[in-house]
Amino acid sequence: MGNLKVWFTLITQMGPVASTGKKFEKLNRFFVLDILKTEGLFEFIEAPKTYDEILSHFGYKDIPYTRELLNLVRDDKAKLIFYSKEEDTYQKNPDADLPTLHDLLTIHDFERIYKASKVPQKFAKAIPNRMSGGSINFIEELGEPGPSLFDYDEALTHKLYTALRNSSFAIINPKNLIGKKILDIGCGSGRETAEIWIKLKGNADIVATDPVESFIETAKAQFRTILEETIQKVARNKILPDLSDHNYPEFAVMKAEELTIPDETFDVVFLQQILHWTSDPRKAILEIGRVLKPGGLFFGCQGTKPLQTPYMDIMIRAHENVCGFFSLPDLKSWLKEAGFTDYKRVTPAGIFKTIKS
Ligand SMILES: C[S@@+](CC[C@H](N)C(=O)[O-])C[C@H]1O[C@@H](n2cnc3c(N)ncnc32)[C@H](O)[C@@H]1O
Repeated sequence: MGNLKVWFTLITQMGPVASTGKKFEKLNRFFVLDILKTEGLFEFIEAPKTYDEILSHFGYKDIPYTRELLNLVRDDKAKLIFYSKEEDTYQKNPDADLPTLHDLLTIHDFERIYKASKVPQKFAKAIPNRMSGGSINFIEELGEPGPSLFDYDEALTHKLYTALRNSSFAIINPKNLIGKKILDIGCGSGRETAEIWIKLKGNADIVATDPVESFIETAKAQFRTILEETIQKVARNKILPDLSDHNYPEFAVMKAEELTIPDETFDVVFLQQILHWTSDPRKAILEIGRVLKPGGLFFGCQGTKPLQTPYMDIMIRAHENVCGFFSLPDLKSWLKEAGFTDYKRVTPAGIFKTIKS
């Protein structure tokens, strides 16, 4: 029954916005290819060039990452480059065109999607830096005031995230969370926390964390407004208590892999699409196991490999200390190591719940 509810919520709510998810990945692909074009890669390999020639021409030093990126483009469905295993050479396919933004998006999409994708556009710029052996810290990059922070915040209000959250809550019984002590990991600028607050009718002790300082500052200072806006969006007719000192969430700057929280503090931990952003998802899961009380619930949504978003993965991994996506068997083994049992996963989106033994 629980599974059906998750599927139903996902299909009815995610269905209408699923094409947006696909468009986001098309944009990620565009930005990655575009940055390689700007580097002059496609021009350089108009005639076949060995891998070593590519590295020395561009001064690339991160050899495994550069190889992986070239192979991702080699395996692209548009057959953009040819690869000869015998010669270890790459060559641009003269008959394959690189995508343009206009191929990908309608005018309508530009408003809805392109605006929200300025952050991936910025993230793609870390790729040449990474190949050259540099490192960019995305938490610092994201936290800088200005357009990217604003756009990221806007992206997080997308219906896609709300649909995933509603599906995550369909795998549990929200009534069982009422009055409990809850940790919200990777809360962004507090919009996720507002949705959780509404689901629990303001009757929960929520601590919400994110490593981006300016997100937490926004959440802390503006939670009342964020909550009011969220109520208008997702719960207009619900009868809810007032926000007070008793039910105002606590916000704290924290990474999932370094929770500065005493052992066995929480009844529940929630996260949505966070572990691939961490430096070490295994460590994050051990930390979650540590701060949960025995019998505590860990639930949410976490995608795993094989990926529908390989361009997003390579783009986020261009940053320092971002591990990217991992496999489901790895995730299961880390959960087991951290003392979790009864792992249940529904839908390819990775809606899950598990109990700390
Ligand atoms: C895709 S957003 C998801 C935000 C929110 N959970 C939602 O679904 O609306 C990823 C979030 O992970 C946060 N994040 C990045 N690295 C993290 C880390 N090491 N630990 C916890 N959160 C992290 C980012 O700052 C960002 O708010």
